[in-house]
Amino acid sequence: MGSNSTLAVETSGLVRTFGETRAVNGVDLAVPTGIVHSLLGPNGAGKTTLLRILTTLLRPTEGTARVLGHDVVREADAVRSRVSVTGQSTSIDEDLTGRENLAMVGRLLGHRGAAARQRADDLVDAFELSEVADRPVKTCSGGERRRIDIAASIIVTPDLLFLDEPTTGLDPRARNQVWDIIRTLVAGGTTVLLTTQYLDEADRLSDRVAVLDHGKVIAEDAPGRLKSQIGTGALKLRLQDPGQRAQAEQMLSRTLAVEPGADSDPHRLSVRVTDAQQAARAVTALADAGIALDDFSMAQSSLDDVFLALTGHPVTGDGQAEKAEAEAVDGAEADAEAGDKQTAK
Ligand SMILES: Nc1ncnc2c1ncn2[C@@H]1O[C@H](COP(=O)(O)OP(=O)(O)O)[C@@H](O)[C@H]1O
Ligand SMILES: [Mg+2]
Repeated sequence: MGSNSTLAVETSGLVRTFGETRAVNGVDLAVPTGIVHSLLGPNGAGKTTLLRILTTLLRPTEGTARVLGHDVVREADAVRSRVSVTGQSTSIDEDLTGRENLAMVGRLLGHRGAAARQRADDLVDAFELSEVADRPVKTCSGGERRRIDIAASIIVTPDLLFLDEPTTGLDPRARNQVWDIIRTLVAGGTTVLLTTQYLDEADRLSDRVAVLDHGKVIAEDAPGRLKSQIGTGALKLRLQDPGQRAQAEQMLSRTLAVEPGADSDPHRLSVRVTDAQQAARAVTALADAGIALDDFSMAQSSLDDVFLALTGHPVTGDGQAEKAEAEAVDGAEADAEAGDKQTAK
């Protein structure tokens, strides 16, 4: 290659509209190889649209995107041959077992029978799927299916792996398993670009995070630096006597030098803190001042906290309301994707 400057992903002024909706609204990204880069944003932020452009499933309306040095429009075939996407392997057959599916994908990708079976067995072991790999996929849990899906997408180890919300809807144990898989891949040299709605996921997995809001990148940094901007968590307090609220707020702003956030419940107070020690000092100061608490807890910063800190407003747009519909929408999206694939050719 000669050049040491080939980026995994490079976009410039990238725009994609759907009618009036500017799903991706002027995105400039430069993702180096060898890292995990997260796109963090709420429902409707434009994450999937961006990924679909980068994986050549959708054409940009304006701007350019290069993946591993190849233009996604003019050199779409070259891009397709170098990247892998989860969900792409929707060639998964519900009635076959996980192991059979992996071997089948292997054969489709050009492995000979024995080699395909061997690769399937290796992935089953690596992904700790041996207990479920010989049952029809339709009987697997969400977390097991997600692991089979990721396994299918790395039958041939890709240079660049796109993961669209790999752990959404998974329980904590399954999330951890997926995280381990991603870490293993990265250790093996694969670059990963993933989307997520979870701040803690972006924080734990990635080297860099771009925060996406209404199709725009509103912040981009190392997760540690983003968090120091946001605070690592919130101290949530419930006062026994709401009459002491003003006094409590004054104490907190003196102890923590931050202003407690507004809350509609007069009993409740919430303050952003940088660490548990700072929270402990605050609770102690309140007790010393004779302000009784019913309850207190530390909550990890959430996506809402990120948006509040970065934009001054909570997650808006088609964010929260759509969450309940997420499952149904996901199904529809997959169909739309298949449709787009055809028309793009
Ligand atoms: N095929 C489509 N047709 C019309 N609107 C779309 C289509 N795909 C996405 N959108 C809209 O574009 C915006 C961004 O969607 P999406 O990229 O799916 O966001 P995210 O993946 O972050 O939830 C949303 O307002 C969504 O409704
Ligand atoms: Mg999406």
